[in-house]
Amino acid sequence: MKLIVIGTGYVGLCQGAAFSDVGHDVTCVDIIEEKVKMLNNFSKGISNQLPIFEPGLPDLIKKNCEAGRLKFTTSLKDGIKNADVVFIAVGTPPNEEGKADLTALKKVCESIGKTIEELGKEYTVVATKSTVPVNTHKVVIEILSQNTTKQFSVVSNPEFLAQGRAVKDCIKPSRIVIGTNDEKSKDIMMNVYKPYERQSIPIYLMSNVDAELHKYAANSYLAAQISLTNNFANLARTIGADWNKVKKAVLADVRVGDFVHSSPGFGGSCFEKDVEEFTHSFEKYGCDNSLLKEVLRQNRLQKQVMGKKVKDYFGNLNGKTIAVWGLSFKPETDDMRCSPSIPLLKTLVKEGARVKAFDPAANEESKKIFVNFEGKDSIEYVHDKYDALEGADALVLMTEWREFRTPDFKLIKQKLNRPLIFDGRDIYTSQEIKENGFEYSSIGKPDIK
Ligand code: UGA
Repeated sequence: MKLIVIGTGYVGLCQGAAFSDVGHDVTCVDIIEEKVKMLNNFSKGISNQLPIFEPGLPDLIKKNCEAGRLKFTTSLKDGIKNADVVFIAVGTPPNEEGKADLTALKKVCESIGKTIEELGKEYTVVATKSTVPVNTHKVVIEILSQNTTKQFSVVSNPEFLAQGRAVKDCIKPSRIVIGTNDEKSKDIMMNVYKPYERQSIPIYLMSNVDAELHKYAANSYLAAQISLTNNFANLARTIGADWNKVKKAVLADVRVGDFVHSSPGFGGSCFEKDVEEFTHSFEKYGCDNSLLKEVLRQNRLQKQVMGKKVKDYFGNLNGKTIAVWGLSFKPETDDMRCSPSIPLLKTLVKEGARVKAFDPAANEESKKIFVNFEGKDSIEYVHDKYDALEGADALVLMTEWREFRTPDFKLIKQKLNRPLIFDGRDIYTSQEIKENGFEYSSIGKPDIK
């Protein structure tokens, strides 16, 4: 089938490439010329740079561009004439009030409407992949109707990819949700996803509003689970229990999901944004949103925990050097959006510490956020995790990248001024910490002195 994907961010690019990989003929459209140029240069082998870092994506794009199934352009007209489905995958970032900003989405709808009118295309399926507030399909229908007299159907087809494994999630999604209110577009969408049937991936058919609600409900469940988990983990540490052991037994009950890993709070571009937007939808429709608000409040508090730990330990951070391992909001991504490492670094710098930071992928992203922060140049970025420890008074672990999981504890001890580890992800066991003679404070285990 011929598909157009508008927007080449995480969702559009990964989904577009994945669609082409199952044999569809895909055109990815973006209005940012440099991005499209970068993608075209990449596909022709002129450069090896992509606009985003995502494991497996370079190979997937290369393979499908070479096979002629994947193209990049700035022109919506290119290919829309014969497109079976037009996917919208533009960003819906939060505005100042925490509501989803639909500016890009609305503009795209206007352009689609005008283009199908101009081309005289008889019927078009427009599917929204972007995460949009409940009932946005009505807005999409309204804008399209204002710009074209031709026939169209609007489908809500949310994505469930998680960064760091976005390619895997697009190739083998946990489920496919197709929200539409008419039979014609349902049949076309079923054809788009036909290649996935063989992998026994469940397809859920529902109405537009059901599909929109589903996306926010799924993310809010996960976010709520993390806030609840972090509450339990904080209590565990205080009463001398080990959340890492407790969680395994809790997980034995299949009715409990798997987001039960203690953390310095959830980050990323989705959970905070979506839960916040969801609270506004509750409010708009006169429903009580206090539980979701509490999930967000707990997460804001949790994000302060690591900074507070370090501050409380030293009392005064002036003249101290702190090594930080991991900056991205989770492993396998260079994304720093809403990362818990941001409040940590802010606290450390404000309190007068010097920071030596290492992240396998996010050093550059972090530099952009902290350039000239507080008028100081207190953060040094290094390219090897052990270099960060040289002359540091403590190590703070913020992201559970694989390379941090079994480090050389003897070397850590040798390089640090003081054998002291703050573990934001509870990745080290109390036993290995004791055996190697460290002082240790984590989220969900008793402190080791
Ligand atoms: C999330 C969802 O997991 C996806 O299903 C969804 O499609 C996506 O949002 C979206 O809306 O587009 P993502 O934000 O990429 O994906 O990453 P997650 O793996 O969910 O992690 C989010 C945050 O939760 C990270 O900071 C992670 O460290 C934290 N987390 C996760 C915990 O603190 N504890 C856990 O047990 C699991």
